[in-house]
Amino acid sequence: MEKKNIEWGKIGFGYIKTDYRYSRHWENGQWDEGELTDKAEVTISECAGVLQYAQTGFEGLKVYETKNGDIVAFRPDLNAERLQSTCDRLIMPKISTEDFIKALDELVKANLGYVPPFGSGATLYIRPFIYGCGPVIGVAPSPAYEFRMFCTPVGPYFKGGIKPIKIMLSDFDRAAPHGTGNIKAGLNYAMSLYPGEYAHKQGYSENMYLDAATRTYVEETGGANFLFVSADGKKVVTPKSDSILPSITRRSLTVIAKDYLGLEVEERPVRFDEIPSFSECGLCGTAAVISPVGLIHTKEKDILIPSGMDEMGPVLTKLRETITGIQMGEIEGPAGWVHKIC
Ligand SMILES: Cc1ncc(COP(=O)(O)O)c(C=O)c1O
Repeated sequence: MEKKNIEWGKIGFGYIKTDYRYSRHWENGQWDEGELTDKAEVTISECAGVLQYAQTGFEGLKVYETKNGDIVAFRPDLNAERLQSTCDRLIMPKISTEDFIKALDELVKANLGYVPPFGSGATLYIRPFIYGCGPVIGVAPSPAYEFRMFCTPVGPYFKGGIKPIKIMLSDFDRAAPHGTGNIKAGLNYAMSLYPGEYAHKQGYSENMYLDAATRTYVEETGGANFLFVSADGKKVVTPKSDSILPSITRRSLTVIAKDYLGLEVEERPVRFDEIPSFSECGLCGTAAVISPVGLIHTKEKDILIPSGMDEMGPVLTKLRETITGIQMGEIEGPAGWVHKIC
């Protein structure tokens, strides 16, 4: 399919309507067949579970054109599994991994003209989501659900090179112990809007959240997990907590750190007061892969990360190059990591 006439280098991280999206309906205990539709709008009851009680969860992944022209997705089975755990926690019906990947393949093949060309820096972002569309007035699970998956081309996250960001320690909490921090529930993001806007107004790109119970340990930001590098550059340290989202990027980077770069990896609770002992700090997630952090603002002081505000540190740079090399088909990834769509 011919590429659409889009200035790939100029698009940002926004929504561009594409030709088709996938839609599947659940009612009376079962999913229907599911189909592609050209209708980007949805009509639901005013009393839908999603509108009244935020019964919705979502996923985010990217599709790439590789050097040899293949169209691939990176570990979509893990997005399917994470959506399943979101559905369990929010009492929504699940989509099997097989059906999730079938929907992905159909969606991408129907919108091939929107897959940005290799080397453009842009990618096709995929947004799967499930929401309660049936009416509920008492607080209860919805009697009907919709699974949808749409795609939109997105530009390179870092235009004009990767620059370290400044973040701030938030006074707000992101997730309670035994709450919903470890699933991708819409409600987690609704409540992060206020602290997010507050941080932006103060001149910071993101919030660092601490554990809500003791405010001692580093959790994550509103949309990414943390990675730290030890002072000697030989160890990658990443917070372990039941209330952070299990990032697919982070889980992949820890494998790369061990198996491709020969680094030691520690996944453990990370105390906030340990941060000055690290040489590099980064945020990892699908959108930006790794964003280097140069400064963490707190009310008492600013913590300067030794890798500084000019460029990404050497260990995070190697991790980033390796994972993007695997995603773009330039480096052979572990078996099953790259799913070929066509
Ligand atoms: C709260 C949160 N943490 C971490 C991540 C990164 O996860 P992933 O690497 O799977 O994109 C995301 C984005 O999905 C997120 O929303």
